[in-house]
Amino acid sequence: MTKLLKNAQKTLLNNRRSGYTLPTNNKLYPAQWNWDSAFIALGYSHFNLNFALEEINTLLKGQWKDGMIPHILFHDKNTKYFPNHTVWNCGNKIASSGITQPPIIVSVLRQILEGNKISKKQKGRVKEIVKKLKKYIEWFIKFRDPKKNGLISILHPWESGYDNSSIWDDPMSKVKVEKNLKYKRGDIKVVNPEQRPLKTDYDRYVTIKNHLKANKYNPTKLYKISKFNVIDIGFNSIFLRALKDLIILLKRYNISYSNLKKFSKKSEKQLTKLYDSKKDIFYAYDVKNKKKIIVPSITNFFILYADIKNNLLNKKIIKSLKKYNKGKKYIFSSIKPDHKSFEEKRYWRGPIWINCNWIIYQGLKNKDKIFSSYVKKKTIGLVNKKGFHEYYSCKSGNAMGAYNFSWSAALYLDLVLNKN
Ligand code: GLC
Repeated sequence: MTKLLKNAQKTLLNNRRSGYTLPTNNKLYPAQWNWDSAFIALGYSHFNLNFALEEINTLLKGQWKDGMIPHILFHDKNTKYFPNHTVWNCGNKIASSGITQPPIIVSVLRQILEGNKISKKQKGRVKEIVKKLKKYIEWFIKFRDPKKNGLISILHPWESGYDNSSIWDDPMSKVKVEKNLKYKRGDIKVVNPEQRPLKTDYDRYVTIKNHLKANKYNPTKLYKISKFNVIDIGFNSIFLRALKDLIILLKRYNISYSNLKKFSKKSEKQLTKLYDSKKDIFYAYDVKNKKKIIVPSITNFFILYADIKNNLLNKKIIKSLKKYNKGKKYIFSSIKPDHKSFEEKRYWRGPIWINCNWIIYQGLKNKDKIFSSYVKKKTIGLVNKKGFHEYYSCKSGNAMGAYNFSWSAALYLDLVLNKN
């Protein structure tokens, strides 16, 4: 085993607390995050299956009664983090945030199960996990697509996982900041502020969050009145893939799935309609303001991960992806470098993120062997050179944000060790 693989394991183990793992060992994110935990579990599955299942189990302990799995679980309450548990003031059994994140945990679970031998004892545990994930996916359908259009809304940019992406610029510009807003950010004390979201962004994040809280996180009501309601391509792609993987898992464990199949078909059809063939781009839809959002974000290419059954469209998407960072030494920038909103260092507005590359690679590998191998090689090469950081400049490759970042280590393990 190479030194870096050992370091990747060490990074995860050093960030591990009781039953869950922090996104990093510095002070930036002192809690358990939803999609981070999914990636982290995948990393563990390459050297400790029990830790992988435990990571998922702990996350599911925080599931709300209605099925939602929060985006943050605050196991440790003595934290200076903002927004901490007192600010959200909610949770079921474990203090949590009141919003969710991309449900990639479902697909990751399937991948873990297919890559490992599961003991009889573990099988029982897994069946319980699958039942809970079914409830989670049904929660999205019930509350985030109440009209059953086949597309899921997010009600806060934080739900996407790509917090300050330029995709949200237009809908966020319409959010009127609450008067006398009081909060203290901790992130800009730990990381250079030029690599983090702006104050105007935070003012709006907090305004939306306060509104969700004032409405007691009531999912039925908030779909209609939230200050932010967007159908995003990346999120819906991860959701659709989760739905497909869930159906496979439900079949395997003899749990009913009939209503999900219908929704999955509809979702695939509707998602495909968000492709603008003239501009050769997928667009997000601002439900609140009834407006298309056209921003060239790498997350639009998560559509490949959804594995839609349309070869012609997949080919077009891949062609367009090949042009996205053409001739660049490092791939993939979170926003296309020639777009007016691109910023080399500012978080989700330009830097390279290992989880995005990993999702794209997963989507490509059964569609374009040569290009997918290239993406894998470039991603591994960047981490080999710069280590496990939160994000990287697409111009210089320089590492930014938090160091010892768990999902960069976990996905490095998967990219290097997974032979599929
Ligand atoms: C930031 C990221 C989000 C991630 C979290 C913890 O909020 O935008 O994607 O889950 O940090 O790493």
